[in-house]
Amino acid sequence: MADQSSRNPSGGGEQWASRIGVILAVAGSAVGLGNFLRFPGQAAQHGGGAFMIPYFISLLVLGIPLCWAEWTMGRYGGLRGFNSAPGIYSVLWPHRFAKYLGALALLVPLVIYMYYVVIEAWCLGYALNYVTGDLMLGSDAAAYQAYFDEYIGKGANGALLSGPHAGSLTILAITFLANFVLIYRGVSKGIERFCNIAMPLMALLALIVLARVLTLGTPDPSKPAQSVVGGLGFMWNPHYEELKDPQTWLAASGQIFFTLSVGFGIIINYASYLKRKDDVVLSGLTASSVNEFFEVCLGGLITLTAAYIFLGESARGQGTFDLGFKALPNVFAQMPGGQVIGVLWFLVLFIAAITSSISMLQPVIAFLEEGFGLKRHASAAILGLISAMGCGFVVYFSEGMAALDTFDFWVGSVLIISLALVQSLLYGWALGIERGAEEAHLGAHMRIPHFVQLMLKYVVPVYLAAIFGMFCWNNVPSADATIATVPGLHSSELAEGPAPEPLVASLASQGREIPGVAAVARSDESGTWALVGPEGGLLRLADSPAGLEVIEHKAGYFENTVNSPVALNSIAFIGVIAAFLLLLVHIAGNRWEKEGRLQYRK
Ligand code: PHE
Repeated sequence: MADQSSRNPSGGGEQWASRIGVILAVAGSAVGLGNFLRFPGQAAQHGGGAFMIPYFISLLVLGIPLCWAEWTMGRYGGLRGFNSAPGIYSVLWPHRFAKYLGALALLVPLVIYMYYVVIEAWCLGYALNYVTGDLMLGSDAAAYQAYFDEYIGKGANGALLSGPHAGSLTILAITFLANFVLIYRGVSKGIERFCNIAMPLMALLALIVLARVLTLGTPDPSKPAQSVVGGLGFMWNPHYEELKDPQTWLAASGQIFFTLSVGFGIIINYASYLKRKDDVVLSGLTASSVNEFFEVCLGGLITLTAAYIFLGESARGQGTFDLGFKALPNVFAQMPGGQVIGVLWFLVLFIAAITSSISMLQPVIAFLEEGFGLKRHASAAILGLISAMGCGFVVYFSEGMAALDTFDFWVGSVLIISLALVQSLLYGWALGIERGAEEAHLGAHMRIPHFVQLMLKYVVPVYLAAIFGMFCWNNVPSADATIATVPGLHSSELAEGPAPEPLVASLASQGREIPGVAAVARSDESGTWALVGPEGGLLRLADSPAGLEVIEHKAGYFENTVNSPVALNSIAFIGVIAAFLLLLVHIAGNRWEKEGRLQYRK
């Protein structure tokens, strides 16, 4: 049986200094922008309070079991001399192929870092712009939209290099460097020490912001509905009909993975620095609970409540960035003490983000060190170079946030589900749940009920595969949807010009406002009829036995990607990084085999 003496000879034998330290570090990785920005947006879009049903089911069925599995596998691998996924996977599944799966667990955090650090720098930049008062722009929503778009260079590729916010690149450089300084100092002196201070500080700041939001009352007496209670109702009143939509269930499980940092190959690395008798069961549960507190209690109470009090119904349907970077600044400008709250809020976001982004670097650092016997400065330099290239790519291709969105879709959504699936199979089938249970309970302060093990073996992989299939099915292909049928109307009765009245009425009954200038036109190529909106938006019109159908084309991810050179280049970029990592893993694997550190089952 391996023990301390067999710790990784080239990994520096790093260990966590204290139990609370490792819990805070894992919680620091988990609590991030996902808690404060992504969660409120997802909940509001998918049924408000009703979202909590699929959300908690995903937490109990997928999140916590996988989190325990990852903690257990990480410590198991660490005790057998490995801190990075390629090594740990090979210990769990003694097969030549296992290490290449580990490359996925390096790719995912590395690519997420490339864009996450950019958003992190926006947060710091916004905090500073509150200090200077630049962001107190009055109550016109358009001003915040314009500010944000300009700040991130949304208008054109390369806009950031010369735009009025070129200073934001300096802030990005500082943020980037701060991450590397922390990582350079190591697991216990860097990550752990920092999280020990940052996490309580972030909680304190977030509580101050929350207290301010909950004492806002009804700032505009002419709009009595826009009160704190109204805001809480806006976020939490359940819309059960949303539960029938598979998209709601997908969103809930996606949110659970993203927020818990489960399935990223991060917990497995952090847990590999534990000692043999360090508890993993209670620690894993505690870290997850801390994350849920930040997410549901702080994230869920602050963002949308504040947005609703000042903006009313228009706060609905806002995306992740709309809420945090456009709606809230507008709110802060209107509330007493808003400038200070603005500073605090963006500091909360920044601290939340940096404790997450350092966790994305550590798995690759660990791999470079144990795969090639590199010292910390060499591994940090190599990783700095690769991630700076990716980061530069995201910053340069800023038009429409195309690169950022593509990285986030393929890696932050698609690959994380695949990686979670790989890890559940490694636990349930390679390590095996009997061994797994035995390992998990070494030094544990609490027992995992046996049915959780059975779930990990049978339910989780199937559930994950189903989610993955549904996710691709829903997002990748393009689809045409009939949004209205006008009985009694036939295309032969159509003429070029303004849309006929029954058509407009039928769309209006579907909640679709057709602008006055919309016209019916014949498209040149196919001779089919279409309804053309003022911005060139097209709704196809086609005959059916029931009447004239109005068909909307929803471009899927595939179509969007093929039509966007930046998206294609982003995918190629990810491919190159993946190939590079696979090569490194291959070389490191050969080394480990020669050194006798890897033994395969015959
Ligand atoms: N869990 C983090 C959040 O909620 C995001 C994250 C992603 C952290 C990937 C680590 C790795 O924002």
